[in-house]
Amino acid sequence: MARRRIIAGNWKMNMTPSQAVELVNTLKDLVVNPDVDVVYCVPAIDIVPVAEAIKGTNVQLGAENFYIEDKGAFTGEISAPMLKECGVKYIIIGHSERRDIFGENDILINQKVKKAFASGLTPILCCGESLALRKAGTYTEWIKRQITWDLTGVTADQVKELVIAYEPIWAIGTGETATADQAEEVCKMIRETIAELYDAATAEAVRIQYGGSMNAGNAAELLAKDNIDGGLIGGAALKPDFGQIVNA
Ligand code: 13P
Repeated sequence: MARRRIIAGNWKMNMTPSQAVELVNTLKDLVVNPDVDVVYCVPAIDIVPVAEAIKGTNVQLGAENFYIEDKGAFTGEISAPMLKECGVKYIIIGHSERRDIFGENDILINQKVKKAFASGLTPILCCGESLALRKAGTYTEWIKRQITWDLTGVTADQVKELVIAYEPIWAIGTGETATADQAEEVCKMIRETIAELYDAATAEAVRIQYGGSMNAGNAAELLAKDNIDGGLIGGAALKPDFGQIVNA
């Protein structure tokens, strides 16, 4: 079964609302590809203007963060119903920056995955190892454990819709990309983990992205690998290069 490619931009904390609309317009003709799901995961304040700017295009909308309650006294947070009403379809969960800078642990990440599915949002669940774990050679077990915890109580039917992003922390924003073989090794291992936790059909269906300094120059080689179904792109998503990645 062929999995549909998914190329998502993670804009992180970049782009004011007016810059966001300008970027959408710059990329509009460059990101057209009927065989690829193209997603912009944008800062909360850009969601409404970007939703308007992508109308009539092939681009789908994603958010970078949310909280697990629908409403209430949670200063500074936004909820799944708020995102849904604005047209958000995808939600990044468990990014290493949320884990490391904002202290999100696997218990919360698991709650977020379940809440996203219950709310009709598709999680882009991130996992990945630090440089220390890569050097120690224990990265496989680490990522396996992340996936196992983060998907506790998630059904096979939900996992078939899930997107998993493998993002080695040492490759994020550093210009140092994992080689295509290194990325494929882990993405394959993630798929095998899903097969162990669920079944072969679920493992076959789940889409797995690579993220970490993916750019116009290295995208084609990474995306050619059997178990890499797309990319989660930071820096290069803010430039016309993103169009080359979508069409790599
Ligand atoms: P860079 O593409 O800037 O390395 O960021 C990757 C990333 O963290 C995407 O979520």
